[in-house]
Amino acid sequence: MTTRDAVQEAVQSYYGQQLTGTADLKTSACCDADAVPSWLRPLLAKVHPEVSDRYYGCGLVCPPLLSGCRILDLGSGAGRDVYLLAQLVGATGSVVGVDMTPEQLAVARRHQDFHAQQFGYDNVSFLEGTIEQLELLPLEPGSFDVIVSNCVLNLSTDKAAVLRGVMRLLKPGGEFYFSDVYADRRLPESVQRHPVLYGECLGGALYWNDFLRLARGAGFADPRLVSDRPIWITEPQIAPLVGEARFYSATYRLFNISELEDACEDHGQAVIYRGTIPDHAERWDLDQHHSLESGRVFPVCGNTYRMLQQSRFGEHFSFIGDFSRHFGLFGGCGGGLPFASSGPAPAASGFPADTDTAGVGSQASAKSCC
Ligand SMILES: C[S@@+](CC[C@H](N)C(=O)[O-])C[C@H]1O[C@@H](n2cnc3c(N)ncnc32)[C@H](O)[C@@H]1O
Repeated sequence: MTTRDAVQEAVQSYYGQQLTGTADLKTSACCDADAVPSWLRPLLAKVHPEVSDRYYGCGLVCPPLLSGCRILDLGSGAGRDVYLLAQLVGATGSVVGVDMTPEQLAVARRHQDFHAQQFGYDNVSFLEGTIEQLELLPLEPGSFDVIVSNCVLNLSTDKAAVLRGVMRLLKPGGEFYFSDVYADRRLPESVQRHPVLYGECLGGALYWNDFLRLARGAGFADPRLVSDRPIWITEPQIAPLVGEARFYSATYRLFNISELEDACEDHGQAVIYRGTIPDHAERWDLDQHHSLESGRVFPVCGNTYRMLQQSRFGEHFSFIGDFSRHFGLFGGCGGGLPFASSGPAPAASGFPADTDTAGVGSQASAKSCC
């Protein structure tokens, strides 16, 4: 696979014709079906089986506080996440799904009336297009509260363009909350160009630090890692192809807040979580470095302060301090390989002896589901 068009055609063929459901996947990179939390299961039960059966996501793209939000799902596939989010935003919100594969869109659209009946309202729409050219779609700049994507950015032939498009469409204070596959290194061309590895969301996976660079280049100065899990490549035909490279499924949140800095600076600030985010009375996690217990004074860097204050989370916090003084660099916001699950490295050739120090590795099945 060489040209961008050829790559996109191969991806369309893979998801439109070759795969007929999750069971057809050859690895477990895009397969997160086991990880649905209990609070989401009743909502998932309302999704049409044909839609659920064609789920190829690698993470959970349902952050809290979505009621009334306008959401865009990039690479929405058969629509599972769109129909989950439709229930979370409710009748006053809306969800738009974008995908380039007609067969995937056909499944999503075929069941739109079914879901409208299930939910009692119709608040979704699906658009055909590529996520590298979002500006060609009838989407108002600065009109989305939240943009999500589940196991799609790795398939993109121009990831920088996707991130620029996301920034253009987000409202100020809005967030891009998305799951994708990352590698612990830059992948050799032989892996990048392998059609099955690419289709299975491995060949196009970004080296995590290159992703951070791209995100910053698009104006997302301080990407925050929410969760991660290792992907075990155990299939005998596939494992030797990826060599020593390790893969992770990770969920990041990127805020559209122009004042964010490229490092965490200490202004002597703190926040107190009010305990008012539904279903998170005791504690709420902004990301892997910020687990905020309700009622406790929690020192934060300037970026975290702004993320909380300028986003939809603002009313759920009290804010202490301002930006009038500076005390140097704020420690403890993370560095090095960011994935919590990176402890015992998931070798491509099989499972290491101690597989799950972070308690998340056990969620990954022997297959990947993109
Ligand atoms: C791994 S599947 C994930 C689908 C869906 N997010 C889910 O969780 O089931 C990837 C989807 O992204 C779509 N896709 C891949 N590259 C795309 C692009 N450049 N523009 C639009 N859609 C794309 C494919 O058509 C496919 O439906």
